[in-house]
Amino acid sequence: MKRIVVLISGQGSNLDAIVRASEAEDWPGRVVAVISNRADAGGLQRARAHGIATEVLDHKAFADRAAFDAALAGVIDAHSPDLVVLAGFMRILTPEFVARYEGRMLNVHPSLLPAFTGLHTHRRAIEQGCKVAGATVHFVCAELDHGPVVAQAVVPVLAGDDETTLAKRVLAAEHVLYPRAVGWFVKGELRLQDGRVTHLGGEPQGWFA
Ligand code: GAR
Repeated sequence: MKRIVVLISGQGSNLDAIVRASEAEDWPGRVVAVISNRADAGGLQRARAHGIATEVLDHKAFADRAAFDAALAGVIDAHSPDLVVLAGFMRILTPEFVARYEGRMLNVHPSLLPAFTGLHTHRRAIEQGCKVAGATVHFVCAELDHGPVVAQAVVPVLAGDDETTLAKRVLAAEHVLYPRAVGWFVKGELRLQDGRVTHLGGEPQGWFA
C-alpha cells in the first residue's frame, strides 16, 4: 500500500476529494497523515473525520524558511511517504526541500500552467479577458508553480464571471483532476522522463471539465 502524506493550509476540499476517491476506487494507496502549517485549517477537521492522523507545524515558530522546511521534512518522513501531495499548501518551498521529494511530490494550482503562476489566478485570468481557465496538477520543482505537468482540466470563463464564481468552477474541476492524478501515481501508471509525464495506459491527461 502506497503511503500518501498531504500538506494543507486551508479548507482541504481537495484533500477530502482525494481521500474519498482512494476509498471508493480502492487504490493501492492511502492518505496516512495530513500536515498543516496553520492550526485553524479546516482540512484538519476533515482529516480527523476520516480517521487520518493530523499534525500542525506553525511556520511562524521558526526563524526562517530553511528551518521550517527542515522541521517539516522531519514530520513528513516520520510517516514514510511514497508520495507527498500539496493540496492548498500556501508556502514557498526551499530548493533543498523540493529536491528531497523530487519525483514524488505533486501540487495542484488553480490555473492552466504555465499561465498565471502565483496568487490571484482567477482575477488575473478575468482581467486578461481569458475565455478558458482551469487547473493543473504537476510534479513540484524548485521554481514556484513550475514542474512537469501531470494533468490539466479546462473550464470556461463566462461573461458574468467574477473571481468568486470562476474560483468555484475551477475548484470543482480540481476535485476530479487531483484524485485522478494521485490515483495514477499510486497505481504506478505515470512515467516521468525528460521533464514530461505520460500515462502508461494512454489515458487522456487533459480534458474539458
Ligand atoms: C485550490 O484551489 C488550489 O488549487 C489552491 O488552493 C486551493 C485549496 O483549496 N492552491 C494554490 O493556489 C497553490 N498555489 P482546498 O484547501 O479546498 O483544497
